[in-house]
Amino acid sequence: MTERPVMNFEPDVAAKAAALADFATYMNPQKVRVLKAAGLDIIEAQRDGVWVWDLDGRRFLDCFTSAGSFNVGRRNPRIVKAAHDALDRLDNGNFLLCSAQKAALAKRLGEISPPGLTCTTFGTGGGEAIDFALKLARGATSRAKIVSSVNGYHGHTGFALSAAGRESFRTPFEPLMGGFERVPYGDLPAMEACVDTDTAAVILEPVQGEGGIVVPPADYLAGVRAACDRVGALLILDEIQTGLGRTGKWFASEHFGVVPDIMTIAKSLGGSLVPISATIYTEDLREFLIPNPFIHLSTFGGSDLACAIALEVIDYIDETGLIEHAALMGRRLVTGLHEVAAAHSDVIAEVRNLGLMTGLKYTEDGLGPRMSYQLARHGVLAIYSGNEPSVMRLMPPLIITESEIDFLLEAIEAAVKDLVAGTGFDEAITSDRAKRRPQRAAGVPG
Ligand SMILES: Cc1ncc(COP(=O)(O)O)c(C=O)c1O
Repeated sequence: MTERPVMNFEPDVAAKAAALADFATYMNPQKVRVLKAAGLDIIEAQRDGVWVWDLDGRRFLDCFTSAGSFNVGRRNPRIVKAAHDALDRLDNGNFLLCSAQKAALAKRLGEISPPGLTCTTFGTGGGEAIDFALKLARGATSRAKIVSSVNGYHGHTGFALSAAGRESFRTPFEPLMGGFERVPYGDLPAMEACVDTDTAAVILEPVQGEGGIVVPPADYLAGVRAACDRVGALLILDEIQTGLGRTGKWFASEHFGVVPDIMTIAKSLGGSLVPISATIYTEDLREFLIPNPFIHLSTFGGSDLACAIALEVIDYIDETGLIEHAALMGRRLVTGLHEVAAAHSDVIAEVRNLGLMTGLKYTEDGLGPRMSYQLARHGVLAIYSGNEPSVMRLMPPLIITESEIDFLLEAIEAAVKDLVAGTGFDEAITSDRAKRRPQRAAGVPG
């Protein structure tokens, strides 16, 4: 599907060092240290399909993709062309007015979304989409309680952070919003015990991303749906990582035969070029917005430019058969990973997978950053899960080809062998101090 691109820039080691130094001085020195320790102190230069080049000239197969943001590949030529065309005639647009681009995208989202989800409110990023989903749930039900999951991840904005499943993200900012409770993910009895007539909504990822690519038991989401229905609570499914073909269906909920009341998408909707998110919900819930159509506003949410690009993203996914391709490539990847895992059970404990949403669970937490380091040496950009460092996320662009999957499998095999042999680690990672560093401090969310 893609031709392997060639490097089109002059590597510049000094410019890279300067960018890292400025990032440390003017932004976040600890981020630079943590990434360096994991061999990920990369300054992205050329971005092309499934590939990205560090400014120092090294090429990586991008398996992080900004936590699943580049489903159509990086700078996909068709999406770039649509962006150029949009720039020639549009700008962000006036958020308070009606817009042809917003209307067209909302209509298209209604066509591809699970049945009954026909109404959309746009945002700029995932957190904003979650915030609106939770506001809508509270507003429409006149109830306060929200149930989310341990290790769940929904972003760092106000409502989204209150639902976060990781305590260390929440505690420095408490008191956050009240009325939020968390239950273990995949545990239906715990969910059933928690959801009651005070519950406005349950919010879950259909597959936990940051939690370590956790695919729930087959009947879990249907059970949660039933628990919600029994008490009149709403089900919000956060498809921000799982949506738009990632799992081999348009939306992961389709694997489980479950239709939520509200669904959120973001990340890949912008085609790797622009920020845009969407909260998609039923016409019934829209009633809440009728008395005050200005109750939720976002200046840049669903800008006209972003909507034009997102429309092309959806057409591209649809017209190229990208979803079926993702399912096929996912099967090839997972077959190969099982072989690697069987040969290296001392390092890989489990392969987790749905479509091209794949996780490698290592036998211990500390292997997350160490394997990122080794994979980077072998030309693969892959980052361990923010809330579960023992799980490596492998979420390449869906346009990945068979030969690129094979490249990835060979790189993983070589990385595991070097890890076991202790080859290639420099002082940063082998020093006792680095080994003792608490894993939570090295969590890389996204
Ligand atoms: C499942 C999920 N929900 C929400 C978010 C938040 O999205 P954003 O970073 O665009 O606010 C993310 C980001 O990684 C995510 O993975």
